[in-house]
Parts: sequence; structure tokens; C-alpha cells
Amino acid sequence: MNHHVDVMISEQQIKARIKELAAQINQDYQHAGSNLLLIGLLRGSFIFMADLCREITVPHQVDFMTVSSYGNNTTSSRDVKIVQDLDESIENTHVLIVEDIIDSGNTLSKVRDLFLLRKPASLEICTLIDKPSRREVEVPVKYIGFSIADKFIVGFGLDYAQFYRHLPYIGIVTFPENT
Ligand code: PRP
Ligand code: MN
Ligand code: MG
Repeated sequence: MNHHVDVMISEQQIKARIKELAAQINQDYQHAGSNLLLIGLLRGSFIFMADLCREITVPHQVDFMTVSSYGNNTTSSRDVKIVQDLDESIENTHVLIVEDIIDSGNTLSKVRDLFLLRKPASLEICTLIDKPSRREVEVPVKYIGFSIADKFIVGFGLDYAQFYRHLPYIGIVTFPENT
């Protein structure tokens, strides 16, 4: 792999921001009456979900759904596949979708539309990273960890051809032929 990775957002910065997001979520859902469900979109969200849910003190449940649009490519296919759906109903449940990144918006737009048909009590989105300049579809996102410029990033759940998800920070990938 002819490229290298530099730290863009450090582990400490991410930790601090996750605490802030969770504090906001704790406040917003204090009257949700044990009816909050965090739904992570696999695979990218798994690390953010693990850290975020451990900072959320209001009673909540955690579930996952597997969707895929990028596969091993670096650009969105716009064809979002539901690889593994939820097992349980979300009707009358306060749903908070947890994502690692919103880029073109195709993934979250499709999942949001699908969930809305199932009549949740409320539906919001929390993403660690937002790349607003890449948006192709508008999606309302309530909680955003970091809004960044259009750079190819990895780590903290985000992959490059399925590698680097384990990095404890967000890194920028640099390809020598592009510099
Ligand atoms: C990535 C990322 C988001 C989505 C964002 O997932 O984790 O889910 O793309 O892109 P979009 O806003 O342009 O739709 P990917 O399809 O690569 O699957 P993964 O989570 O398994 O890496
Ligand atoms: Mn994903
Ligand atoms: Mg991916």
C-alpha cells in the first residue's frame, strides 16, 4: 500500500468531544423514559458506538444494522445495501442513529427513510465526522462530532479497503502520486 497516514484528530480530542456529545444526548433524552435505542451502522460505527454509549447515562439499548455502499472503493456507489437489518421493531421508540461519518449522505438518507416508515417515537442522527462539502443528499443531522474538509480519512472505525479501522485517532491518508 503506497501511502501514509498522519494524525488529523487525536485520541484525546475525540475522547473529549464524545463526552460533550454524550452530555448533550443525556440532557435531550432525560425524559425519553428508558425508551432510547442507539442504532449503529456497521461496520464503521462500532468504535464510536462503544465509546459514546459508555458516556450515555440515560437508560438506553444498543442495536446494530449492517449497511454498505462503498465496499472497497473510495467513492460512494450510491447503491446502499442493507446487509443485515434490525431484528426488532422500532415503533414508538426514540431512535438515535450512530454513524462514523456522513459524506455524500446516501447511506443515512436511505436508512433514515427506511426507519421513518417504521414509526419511531423520534429519529435523530449522531455522527462522529461530517464532510458537508461532499453532500449529494440533504440529511438532518442533530449531533456532529467534527465537521471537516474533504480529505480521505481513516481510523476510529473508518477504513481504507477495510484496513485501519483500529486506529485510536482519525488519520489523513496521503497518496504520493497526488502530492
Ligand atoms: C461508509 C461510512 C458511512 C458511509 C458514509 O460506510 O461508514 O456509513 O460510508 O458515506 P455516504 O454518506 O457517502 O453514504 P461503508 O459503506 O464504507 O461501509 P463500512 O461502514 O463497512 O466501512
Ligand atoms: Mn459505514
Ligand atoms: Mg467503508
